[in-house]
Amino acid sequence: MNSTRATDYGLLAQQAASLAEGTPGWLPAFANVAALLGEALPSINWVGFYVATNGPAGKQDLVLGPFWGRPACVSIPYGAGVCGRAVETNKPQLVPDVHAFPGHIACDAASRSELVVPIHATAADGGTAIWGVLDCDSPIPARFSAADLEGFSRIVHALEKSADLLGPAVVPVRP
Ligand code: SME
Repeated sequence: MNSTRATDYGLLAQQAASLAEGTPGWLPAFANVAALLGEALPSINWVGFYVATNGPAGKQDLVLGPFWGRPACVSIPYGAGVCGRAVETNKPQLVPDVHAFPGHIACDAASRSELVVPIHATAADGGTAIWGVLDCDSPIPARFSAADLEGFSRIVHALEKSADLLGPAVVPVRP
């Protein structure tokens, strides 16, 4: 899509919440949210989720979750790339030029700018941890503005409230 109209992030956050609310498990919910965002956001080539997990030998990684776009890197070590930096610093990353970002991981050579927002989960005991990230790439340099960062943060907050982040990734099939 190449619309120049401003994105209605309030509406997108509502739609994302509707897709997540009442959906058992985060996997099907986030598959639909990735599809929603991929259809709605102009001038992007990838949008999706990476999920924080414990990798082999106790190493922690971000693992590819539901997304819209071309096949992407399956695993990103904490601290690596833009996604790993978002987790390490617990801060969103707005990258106008990915070629100028040290350690950027190029899943698609067409990507020129990127926006990553950490997602937090609250456990039953009230403790909060990073669950993963929402990542978006664009083939256009400086595609993402401060307004986009605010909009993505709204979507992430809506998902943190409405999605079943601690639920099973695979919803059991009834016998
Ligand atoms: N560019 C990301 C890797 C994931 S892809 O963009 C889908 C990074 O540097 O972390």
